[in-house]
Amino acid sequence: MPKLVIAEDCAGLGPLAPCLKQLGFKVEAFYMSESDPALLQRLSDLYHPQKLSDDCTKYKGVEKLINVFGSGPPCQPFSPIGQRRGHKDVRAKIGKAVVMRIRRWLPETFILENVKALTYRKNRKHFAKLLRLLKADGYYDVQWKVLDTWNYGGLPQRRSRVWIIGTTIHATKRKFRFPKPLPKRKRTKLMDLLGRKSQEYQFPKTAGGRKRLRAGLKKINKLGGDLDEPWCSVRSSIAELRKSSKESQVVVWCLASPVLELVLTLFGRRAMEGWSTSAKDVGDLSVRQFGMALGNAWPIPVAVRILHQLDRAMGWSG
Ligand SMILES: C[S@@+](CC[C@H](N)C(=O)[O-])C[C@H]1O[C@@H](n2cnc3c(N)ncnc32)[C@H](O)[C@@H]1O
Repeated sequence: MPKLVIAEDCAGLGPLAPCLKQLGFKVEAFYMSESDPALLQRLSDLYHPQKLSDDCTKYKGVEKLINVFGSGPPCQPFSPIGQRRGHKDVRAKIGKAVVMRIRRWLPETFILENVKALTYRKNRKHFAKLLRLLKADGYYDVQWKVLDTWNYGGLPQRRSRVWIIGTTIHATKRKFRFPKPLPKRKRTKLMDLLGRKSQEYQFPKTAGGRKRLRAGLKKINKLGGDLDEPWCSVRSSIAELRKSSKESQVVVWCLASPVLELVLTLFGRRAMEGWSTSAKDVGDLSVRQFGMALGNAWPIPVAVRILHQLDRAMGWSG
């Protein structure tokens, strides 16, 4: 498999490298930016990028041929959890800085991710402007789609994200197409995860513990959560169920419940997002720091499926 050179702005946990490695590629990290010092240190230790920056709006730097440029700029300006100040929020400028870097560096392909609220009518003007900038000069074929983590990643949680993909028109072998939804049998339910006897998940190891956990989850079911449906991550639950006070109570109850803390241990949460559960991946981050970053991170299986399609479009693996 060939080596791909990557660059990542607002890298957070740096999902691009592990996703491409899952597809069998060797990866050379050329550049990464991240404003959180602990996350930046982890990126440096794990991926050894040649260039590191703690502020993507300031880094100009020299370009190099980049095969894949990735970014998930801060979503608070558009997220229903934030103050929803949209393009007026200073953090929206970060998204623009990322787009301008793409226009300067002209990577072969790019993959950008954000909350689906970016596509809502209130933010449409800003979204359309970003797309216009990305399409300017006719250099890229740009496509976007909102993908849900359960349907497209098979993980037991509902989390919709907008993905914007660009492929250099002159180098593309065939048109990029988003992955299709997974068949139902390939989607995991929370109960499936709980039923697994895997050391990877820190779910209760004793039969009694599992029984108590199931009882707790059933209570949630009674309160309005449906365990036959994929469970939302706590953050997205708060965002998406905000309007319904009954459902919000469920979420608050989850957070407060010692039973559900078992589900939301770092290992469980990493499994829920499809992230590696190896200790090496955590680096020197505390459980809290990793957990917070995980709440903002790309759901890995969705990104892997998109990158697989990107590989088909570009013909990297032949
Ligand atoms: C939505 S998260 C990205 C998560 C990432 N895609 C992942 O999968 O882990 C946005 C990240 O941008 C970082 N950030 C915010 N402002 C930044 C800036 N000016 N330069 C670089 N990173 C920044 C935040 O610390 C946060 O980790």
